[in-house]
Amino acid sequence: MTRRIAIVPGDGIGIDVTREAVKVLRAADALFALDLDLEEFDFGAERYLRTGEALPTGMMDRFRSYDAIFMGAFGDPRIPDMHHAAEILLGTRFQLDLYANVRPVKCLSDRLCPLKGRTRRDIDFVVFRENTEGLYVGMGGIFKKGTEQEIAVQEDVNTRHGVERIVREAFQFAARHHRTRVTMSDKSNVLRYGHDLWQRVFAEVSAEYADIEANHLYVDALVMQMVKDPSQFEVIVTCNMFGDIITDLGAQLQGGLGLAASGNIHPGRTSMFEPVHGSAPKYAGKDTANPIGAILTAHMMLDHLGAGAAARAIESAVVDAIETGRCTRDIGGSLGTSATGDAIASGLKA
Ligand SMILES: NC(=O)c1ccc[n+]([C@@H]2O[C@H](COP(=O)([O-])OP(=O)(O)OC[C@H]3O[C@@H](n4cnc5c(N)ncnc54)[C@H](O)[C@@H]3O)[C@@H](O)[C@H]2O)c1
Repeated sequence: MTRRIAIVPGDGIGIDVTREAVKVLRAADALFALDLDLEEFDFGAERYLRTGEALPTGMMDRFRSYDAIFMGAFGDPRIPDMHHAAEILLGTRFQLDLYANVRPVKCLSDRLCPLKGRTRRDIDFVVFRENTEGLYVGMGGIFKKGTEQEIAVQEDVNTRHGVERIVREAFQFAARHHRTRVTMSDKSNVLRYGHDLWQRVFAEVSAEYADIEANHLYVDALVMQMVKDPSQFEVIVTCNMFGDIITDLGAQLQGGLGLAASGNIHPGRTSMFEPVHGSAPKYAGKDTANPIGAILTAHMMLDHLGAGAAARAIESAVVDAIETGRCTRDIGGSLGTSATGDAIASGLKA
């Protein structure tokens, strides 16, 4: 079974780290006979500045024909309004209806654990962030702009359909992966309408999963607990805005932004995978960016595509590279981006 994957490295270090993720994917392909068909696209700042076009007409339909999409990162100081990045990234998330932003928060080595008295065993949970609604839909407006009386309104959109499918996805994931607790986080004590809906939907859906504990924390309490005792979390489900913020905190619990992976998923449809970090233009092309976030993103994508053994082999090779210091400087190693990719690719074991 051929697995067709569209690869979009994007801008800045997105290009550097995607090269290493592709290297590891090709090594996994050779070892596990995955029959990967990787097709690379140059969508990003350079192309946008050259052609005025972020994505060619019909590209979203073409994306739908792949089994998965892998993206690096987008952002270039020459395009301050981020127009191309919004069209490519947000366009893909919204137009392909990738409603579940799935971000594993797993610390792979005690050496990387930033919390005093904690070990990697205390940090292993997955955040399900709603990815198509909330404050990110761009509804609202500004009245009397630039005056003393200016009014800015940003609407927070929560639909029954949208909330229910992300909550259900979190419970289904928990059931599939033998996780015993799902924590829903909102601010329903203050956001009496939108998050009241989250409360009611969570109560309804959780009742269908008698073996999974349904837990609730207001988001301010949740961030406190993520630092105080992260071992209590297995699966967290939350809205778009809160998910955006808590997963950056999560990345730090893992050991840094350079290690964090994510998937933008619509079960049963073409989904998109990307490291959490941005294009870090300062480090672009310098062979210093940490490729592990991108490589773990490839791991997540293979797992999603049913290549579990290859995915596990990638994670083991990453753990081994970290433990033996064959990694980049941001996590205490001495290698460059490319040599780190080599170490992980050559460390894969069937
Ligand atoms: N998904 C995306 O494509 C995405 C996400 C966030 C930011 N951005 C864009 O990226 C550009 C830069 O944004 P930023 O500086 O706020 O965020 P960033 O994630 O690019 O970088 C922030 C800092 O984190 C560290 N870092 C990030 N990734 C790293 C890696 N792989 N290895 C080692 N260190 C790493 C660096 O110290 C860097 O200065 C902006 O244009 C921004 O809009 C894009």
